[in-house]
Amino acid sequence: MNKARRPLIAGNWKMYRGGADGVDLAAGCAKLASSVPGVDLLIAPPFTVLAAASHETDGSNVAIAAQNLYPKKEGAFTGEISATMLKDAGCTWVLCGHSERRQLFGDTNERVAEKVAAAFDNDLAPIVCVGETLDEREAGQTLSVVRAQIDAVLPRLARECAGPNGKAAAIAYEPVWAIGTGKNAGPAEAQEVHGAIRGWLEAASAGLGEKLRILYGGSVKPENAKGLLTCPDIDGALIGNASLDIGSFGAIARTASEISQSSN
Ligand code: PGA
Repeated sequence: MNKARRPLIAGNWKMYRGGADGVDLAAGCAKLASSVPGVDLLIAPPFTVLAAASHETDGSNVAIAAQNLYPKKEGAFTGEISATMLKDAGCTWVLCGHSERRQLFGDTNERVAEKVAAAFDNDLAPIVCVGETLDEREAGQTLSVVRAQIDAVLPRLARECAGPNGKAAAIAYEPVWAIGTGKNAGPAEAQEVHGAIRGWLEAASAGLGEKLRILYGGSVKPENAKGLLTCPDIDGALIGNASLDIGSFGAIARTASEISQSSN
């Protein structure tokens, strides 16, 4: 963490908590927000509770993100949802290119770039998710894979986010082998990739790397949060499993708050 950037602790609920249980969890997050100074919170509930979660968190420092979008304004696209619809439901952020979308639903780098463009066109801030598979890591391709994923969105990020009035966006580095497996990248492994990403952002546009938050994701839990969040280029976390429990999400957010307060 670096005091130039406010930590962002984000919960990706995936296909869980889509009903009254999601509304309760959102209310818990709104309450949590007042006890974690120096930290921004974000939750990405399923589509079915976005509007209700937005209502629960109104006025708190909890932003609402969608987990995906379809990069068209409207049309005959059965089962899909557009950026404008997400905005109407109260979203200000959207995940683009989560590895489950890439692996299970065919999101290519090009499709992710279209989603990022649609997000910016509609004033939604994208969280661009990147990360390598185990095979790619073992073949020594981690940085080249992540670089290609970043390159697909970099021109648009540079155009939209650079400068003092630039729009918000974030990157989430989530090694695929660490998601939902209980195995997290060690702080040094994660920091190496985060540092590389920041360098690419900075090289694309001076100040961009300093500005954008780069989150780590993949089996973040209260026990490993401190080691990860103290790395200089890790500006927060994108949390799946542990975000479904307000106790563990709160513990990670408190850890981030303590680190950010002590580095100020
Ligand atoms: P996990 O998920 O924390 O359950 O590993 C992270 C993610 O997929 O964003």
